[in-house]
Amino acid sequence: MERIAMAQPSWDDEMRAAAMDTLDSLHWVKGPQGKAFGEEFASYCGAVQGTPCQSGSVALWGALRLLEIGPGDEVLVPSLTYIATATCVSLVGATPVFVDVEPEYWCVDVKALERARTPRTKAVIGVHLFGQMSDDAIVSWCAEHGIAYIEDAAQAHGAQTPSGQMAGGVGDVACFSFFPSKNLAVGGEGGMMMTRRNDLAHRMAALVNHGRDARLESHELGSNLRMSEVAAAIGRVQLKRLEAWLAQRQSVAARYEGAFAGLNGITTPKVRAQTRHAWHQYCLLADDPEKLQQTLSSANIDSRIYYATPCHRQQVYADHPQHDATFAVTDEVCHRLVAIPVHHHLSDDDVERVIQAVVRACSS
Ligand SMILES: Cc1ncc(COP(=O)(O)O)c(C=O)c1O
Repeated sequence: MERIAMAQPSWDDEMRAAAMDTLDSLHWVKGPQGKAFGEEFASYCGAVQGTPCQSGSVALWGALRLLEIGPGDEVLVPSLTYIATATCVSLVGATPVFVDVEPEYWCVDVKALERARTPRTKAVIGVHLFGQMSDDAIVSWCAEHGIAYIEDAAQAHGAQTPSGQMAGGVGDVACFSFFPSKNLAVGGEGGMMMTRRNDLAHRMAALVNHGRDARLESHELGSNLRMSEVAAAIGRVQLKRLEAWLAQRQSVAARYEGAFAGLNGITTPKVRAQTRHAWHQYCLLADDPEKLQQTLSSANIDSRIYYATPCHRQQVYADHPQHDATFAVTDEVCHRLVAIPVHHHLSDDDVERVIQAVVRACSS
């Protein structure tokens, strides 16, 4: 019985040809592919500009630089997320202030933001966790308090708000990752910064190129954060496939929802009303995560816990004032969120095998 993996990158003849043509062109950096990929993905997201870069982590760092956040500033971040959501704040010399997530959706809780707000709060990083859009109320809350909203959309290519806005077109700046396991990949490392603000667009493009203008004059601190042309060429082909892949992920998630409703010992993920979930991960909240993982593993099915150690408890934050803080929801769910495969390469039989294993774990 073949192992069912958590993720499987897509690779086809059109992507191969795009990569080879780009290599053959000898135009390997700073060329038309990166420019087109930025424009096409920005247009998909309803943003004014997308700037490809080397990773989602770099995109987050760049977003904070663009918003001129640095020492003395505080940035509100959920603790239940990938570590880069927090470390980007520390890397620009600002302080990440950790907040709890919503009990139903596991995204940052607007009530917790309000409790954590101080005069030094300059930004919020809302993570569209597992592909679920963060609460739209963050937009008005940020506007009311003059706080910037950075979307960490690393897991949310294609997610949509109730009004049909796409992830990436909601905040001041949004950040995507194209790591191979993500909904859209580029044949290696990659990321993108995205903005809907005209006033940030120009600086965003310059930031990945040492803050330089066309005359090679550096106006602000940047670095070489550029994406290679080959990666951008592959990403452009992947973007054409994204909607079809999302539909496949949605149909797998719908089958899971139908099969798991009413099972004892697990809670299925709840989708925020009227939104489109991008299903980067399908996480079950399990009463006995170890048993669920063992049953899956013995059926040759991969699974993962997200995120067993919340960011504030990681060793990198041993000296952070919130290192020993407790967060009611984060503490309750962090060891219990078991992700099962939901990617767009799963066959009907794969999905059936996963369903049978979960049902078995819940009935024994
Ligand atoms: C929520 C979140 N933010 C940021 C990142 C960082 O992206 P990258 O791995 O491309 O640096 C990831 C990647 O896993 C992520 O899941």
